[in-house]
Amino acid sequence: MIDTSKVLGHCLAKVTKTGSRIQGRIPYRTFDGRFDDWTDKDIAWWTNGFWPGLLWLAHGQTKDDRLATWAKESETHLDRALYDFFELHHDVGFMWHISSVARYKLEHNKDSLRRGMIAASVLASRFNLAGRYIRAWNNWDIPGKEKGVQVKWAIIDCLMNLPLLYWASEESKDPRFSQIAIAHTETVLKNFIHPDGSSRHIVEFDPVTGAYVRCHFGQGYADDSAWSRGCSWLVHGMTLGAKYTGRADFLAAAEHAARFFIENLPEDQVPWSDFKAPAKDQFKDSSAAAIAASGILTLAELVPASRKAYYVDAARRMLTSLATNYLAPESDEALLLHGSVLYHVKEPKDKDTSLIYGDYYFVEALIKLQGGQGLF
Ligand code: GLY
Repeated sequence: MIDTSKVLGHCLAKVTKTGSRIQGRIPYRTFDGRFDDWTDKDIAWWTNGFWPGLLWLAHGQTKDDRLATWAKESETHLDRALYDFFELHHDVGFMWHISSVARYKLEHNKDSLRRGMIAASVLASRFNLAGRYIRAWNNWDIPGKEKGVQVKWAIIDCLMNLPLLYWASEESKDPRFSQIAIAHTETVLKNFIHPDGSSRHIVEFDPVTGAYVRCHFGQGYADDSAWSRGCSWLVHGMTLGAKYTGRADFLAAAEHAARFFIENLPEDQVPWSDFKAPAKDQFKDSSAAAIAASGILTLAELVPASRKAYYVDAARRMLTSLATNYLAPESDEALLLHGSVLYHVKEPKDKDTSLIYGDYYFVEALIKLQGGQGLF
């Protein structure tokens, strides 16, 4: 079984070493062992909060001030996205909750508060009242796409953005933000979850009447399959919904999703890219294991004592496998190997890559396994 403090120590040392090179520049994936840089490439890209988030997680452990300095530098870069209405999307929670809100909770500084509240307002403004869903992406000018197609879509990943809304309500004492988060989560309960506890990726609604139209495969194998990272977003996101609201139906759904995830893992405890794709066409997604393990450790804190060990043991098995079979070599800047971006890959590297969010959730899960807290 995993020696948590040794693996966490290795990760913290590596994040610090990588930070010495890239500082507040913003990485997404590694190429030949070095992180790329999205600071000037696409500052609104949904993964751009994970580096400052990882730095804040590491800073919480090591208290190394350089990590805080680099996290603040990244946060400042993100300002260019915060004021670009045409580029911003629903993933503002991934971007600002673990950068600005994380910093604000430590420093109570007004700039981070302002960023967090603007991001929450952007997220809340995407709520469709008829369908009670937060719309996902943008389509101001996508060649070949039907105009307006994306106003119809909600995606499972969005559950992870909702802690930003719960925080905004708490901070402002304005319940509207959490009302929207709860309404969106109720829509997920009704429309996203298969009877076995796995998740759809995209659900399409009629944006005028709010009626359910159909589901789409998105980043998974088929419309009604179970993309493993989508399933991990459901496990983790529904758990956070239960944590912030105390709602029993959210907790029951989180447990259902977690049981599906745990009981359908292959022997090495790291899922294939889609739980329901043909075995011959599969590849791994280490990020899904890290996201689920971190969520399951929070779930273990919410369930009755009699069920806690089931979840802690499952998360520990996943983290043990990640630490044993998926760690990147010392020469590589990433922590984890063998993540995948989506099932129907656009380029070969999408099948087997290191991903900054896989690293973020791996470290967050290790911290939780030691009794600490994550940032969501
Ligand atoms: N939020 C998109 C993904 O998980 O790849």
